[in-house]
Amino acid sequence: MDKLLIEGGAQLNGVVTASGAKNAALPILASSILLQDKLVVSNVPHLNDITTMLEILSSMGAFMTFNENMDIEIDTSSINNLKARYELVKTMRASILVLGPLLARFHEAEVALPGGCAIGSRPVNLHIDCMRKLGAKIDTSNGYIKASAKGGLIGADIDFTTVTVTGTENAVMAATLAKGQTIITNAAKEPEVTDLIKCLNLMGAKISGLGTDTLIIDGVDQLHSANFSVMPDRIEIATYLTAVTMTGGDITIKGSQPKLLDIVLKKLGDAGAKIEKNNNSINLKMNETPIATDISTAPFPHFPTDMQAQFISMNSIAKGKAEVIENVFENRFMHVQELIRMGGDIELKGNTAFIKGNIGGLKSAPVMATDLRASASLVLAGLVASGITKVDRIYHIDRGYERIEEKLKLLGAKIDRISE
Ligand code: UD1
Repeated sequence: MDKLLIEGGAQLNGVVTASGAKNAALPILASSILLQDKLVVSNVPHLNDITTMLEILSSMGAFMTFNENMDIEIDTSSINNLKARYELVKTMRASILVLGPLLARFHEAEVALPGGCAIGSRPVNLHIDCMRKLGAKIDTSNGYIKASAKGGLIGADIDFTTVTVTGTENAVMAATLAKGQTIITNAAKEPEVTDLIKCLNLMGAKISGLGTDTLIIDGVDQLHSANFSVMPDRIEIATYLTAVTMTGGDITIKGSQPKLLDIVLKKLGDAGAKIEKNNNSINLKMNETPIATDISTAPFPHFPTDMQAQFISMNSIAKGKAEVIENVFENRFMHVQELIRMGGDIELKGNTAFIKGNIGGLKSAPVMATDLRASASLVLAGLVASGITKVDRIYHIDRGYERIEEKLKLLGAKIDRISE
């Protein structure tokens, strides 16, 4: 199994380019099911979660080719199997994103129920409820969601009781081909949802309200072929910026869209980083110990839960005390025990982590990644810890960070991937 070996202490300097956003690419790839034609998607990151989505599509009968620019061309005209099997779904919860498009185009779908995961129970009740609202009959038995909508889906009012990102995406995709109008209220406003909607509108969908919590979808009979380039990965960008705030140095991330990162950039500024935003790049300079910075996670435009673990790492070596409140997921603190093993002074009470910055620094230890963002926080801790940190179970990190050790090496980090 692959592991990362990180020798802490090196400053990070240089230029890296942001990858395409995993959380936008996944629903966009799933949206190809809605078409009886080809969708060409560029700027798709090379990640295990993307491979899983492509495997699901190909297990249904879709064809995929890569053109000379490594753009993915997906032809779903040949789909003949409407089932997403448990063997694939269990490795990635976002597999549920095929439910809406399958129901919309084929009026039938069978999708394995995703199991539990490391960051809380993460049910799919909201996905099921909105498909029912759109007229689908749903039966969950033998570990599968079996859905049908004889005669097709019918537009409806959907009011989400909780803001859900993939739930909103599933509802939007389903409503695109439904008869009549659908109004979604309390919709997720995450930029990745907006990116999906831009792609759907390019394919001929009629969706308005982009970037707001009310989306209006006028169903159309069919969509047509399109070419779409995925937005940059704001969480990847934010992770590298946090890394440099911890190690010190001077980096520029090309291909960033600074406006997607307002709250994170503000918090990194509070921690002492000097940040310069340009149209398409962000420069961050840091030459002091970071200042402890409180955060409280919530749906966009508030602080993203996907950056919570990395900020706990940063606060572990900061001047002062910080409180990190997790409001989105019920059990997203698995990284805390590992950081404590590296010398972090962190106390957990309910959904809040109380961190006393340890300016003396963290010390290396063998640590284990438990989920995607938790593993990123351990890599960041390894970059500043004294000695050599070994991070195990990095398949989690390969789900969401493209060539992380190559990008960090390029910036001057001492990091290697080993197999043992
Ligand atoms: C997406 C992101 C993930 C991010 C999360 C929150 C993708 C592929 N993943 O996950 O990186 O951490 O948004 O920004 O885009 N919930 C229910 N019932 C449901 C669905 C969700 O109760 O049917 C709850 C969840 O347990 C959680 C909250 O809603 O407490 C928000 O989760 P949600 O936005 O749905 O997360 P994902 O879309 O799975």
